[in-house]
Amino acid sequence: MREVKDITAMSVDERIAYAKANSPLTEEELQMIKEGSALTTDRADQMVENVIGVYFLPYSIAPGFVINGKEMIVPMVGEEPYVTKSTTSGARLAAANGGFTASTTGSFMIGQIQMLNIENPETARLKILEDKQRLIEAANKVDPVLVSFGGGCTDVEVRTIETMTGQMVIIHLIINVCDAMGAQAINAMVEAAAPIAEEITGGKTNLKVLSNYAIYRLARARVCIKKEDLGGEENVDKFVSAYAFAAADPFRAATNNKGVMNGMIPVVVATGNDTRAVESGVHSYAARNGRYSTITIWEKNNNGDLEGMIEVPMAVGTVGGTTKFHPAAQVSLKMMGITKADDLEKVIVSVGLAANLGVLYSLVTVGLHGDFESARK
Ligand code: MEV
Repeated sequence: MREVKDITAMSVDERIAYAKANSPLTEEELQMIKEGSALTTDRADQMVENVIGVYFLPYSIAPGFVINGKEMIVPMVGEEPYVTKSTTSGARLAAANGGFTASTTGSFMIGQIQMLNIENPETARLKILEDKQRLIEAANKVDPVLVSFGGGCTDVEVRTIETMTGQMVIIHLIINVCDAMGAQAINAMVEAAAPIAEEITGGKTNLKVLSNYAIYRLARARVCIKKEDLGGEENVDKFVSAYAFAAADPFRAATNNKGVMNGMIPVVVATGNDTRAVESGVHSYAARNGRYSTITIWEKNNNGDLEGMIEVPMAVGTVGGTTKFHPAAQVSLKMMGITKADDLEKVIVSVGLAANLGVLYSLVTVGLHGDFESARK
């Protein structure tokens, strides 16, 4: 594995030259980022309502990420000092140990249909399942383009739930959104399928909208760091007890997970994706066992080395929406050589794990303040 360059001491122009030499980006694309000219007010006015201008944030690069054997520079857009530096040091530790191994479950999202006024909820549940093909067909009719790319509604699940206003039947459409984040397609599909559900059950539908608790769109990453690279087995034990603390205590879990999001969210922003969708998916998954807990796990293996991993919902896209419309988002994807949502999901979870690795290494050794002071020098 080749040595990853430390670019912290470089000037902005030297970093731009580094990015040009180590990514497919052109001089013009990099200059556009340097000048902050990617998003004009006219273009912004086509994105959201009531625009009067644009707002700028620092655009940094984290070099030396190795993910599934591929080396890349990762773009990070955010305001917090120290984050890019500590994420990069996590990435460097990982690269020296073979890098991150990442995988995904595929781009399957859930669209929910809430049904009210159902007299026999369990009978209704079975009737919907018996006739699920009709719902799938109605949903797929509204997005023939997605279907032509191999996506669309693939299955239907039904649950009955007890609520403070009575029992409800909740239908889930399972939708393969391919390379999109998918919100628009999902919302259109649940709306199209709802009348069929009413016909089948005689009930009334209320909310029809996607769920951000994207349990069928998980991304995972893991890394193994030799004890020697962490200053010995004693520090491996400290990592494991830091994990145990976060696993047992929601106060620590919230801060641990915030540190993970410090790595993930800047990549989500840099690629024009929806930060709130990612945050809500990750935090709801962190509470999946009934209590809020850590989304990263650190274990010691038989050699005394450190094994780290993360598994979270990751609903991001590489087509449609801001990703396509914001020129800087296009530059960010090109910098990493990414065209598929699946590959972007793998990068984002790896960056989250790198951020956690970098920060925990500081916390179990010199402490955060000491490291922060040296980062500012
Ligand atoms: C600060 O933005 C994030 C940390 O608090 C994360 C952590 O404590 O793991 C340093």
